[in-house]
Amino acid sequence: MPATSPVKLLVISGSARQGSFNGLLARAGARLAEAAGAEVTPVDLRALELPVYDGDLEAAQGVPEGARRLLKLLHGHDGILLSSPEYNSLPTPLLLNSFDWLSRLPAQDGLPSGTAVTAGKVAGILAASPGAFGGVRALPIVRQYLQNNFGMLVIPEHFALAQAHTAFDANGELPSEAHRKALARVVNGLVRVAAAVKTD
Ligand SMILES: Cc1cc2nc3c(=O)[nH]c(=O)nc-3n(C[C@H](O)[C@H](O)[C@H](O)COP(=O)(O)O)c2cc1C
Repeated sequence: MPATSPVKLLVISGSARQGSFNGLLARAGARLAEAAGAEVTPVDLRALELPVYDGDLEAAQGVPEGARRLLKLLHGHDGILLSSPEYNSLPTPLLLNSFDWLSRLPAQDGLPSGTAVTAGKVAGILAASPGAFGGVRALPIVRQYLQNNFGMLVIPEHFALAQAHTAFDANGELPSEAHRKALARVVNGLVRVAAAVKTD
């Protein structure tokens, strides 16, 4: 049965810093997703207040509440639009730490486990950097992480925005048509696939 309700997407930036280029790119993508009929919910990973993963802390205090908040958000959405910088060619600690904590949650209170909640949901991945490569080296790693560990369907298209410090205007829009097209390919692909796999 085709879905009747709009696609619901979480929009996540792997950088929470003020003025983050990935935050800007994620928000530009979110506007395109809304234009394509999706409902979007921004997620501030910093606001989850997750400490660096520590097995002793987990043994003493359990998984922090912020991870459960992320699980509940994922449970209520069909997919994610994610933009992450690369730090020394890897996805950011903020992103990985958040999802690592998520993966520690067992099924509980009628909710699936932290890796079951993501399984079969769709992801579109982006990166932005002031550098020449736009963070593209981390994208295969983000893809592998979300696919292999979280069972997500990561759509084939991705977009790495190079020289991000010159790419946005004062309103956070992308003046370059080439950039807008590359972003739209990811966002429209994400909304299309999420609508196709959605069952409610
Ligand atoms: C620890 C660290 C490592 C970085 N490594 C890379 C890198 O490998 N490639 C790259 O393009 N930029 C790298 N950068 C620069 C980031 O792309 C830049 O800080 C960018 O603005 C971060 O994204 P944001 O604007 O969304 O916060 C690095 C920055 C930091 C702090």
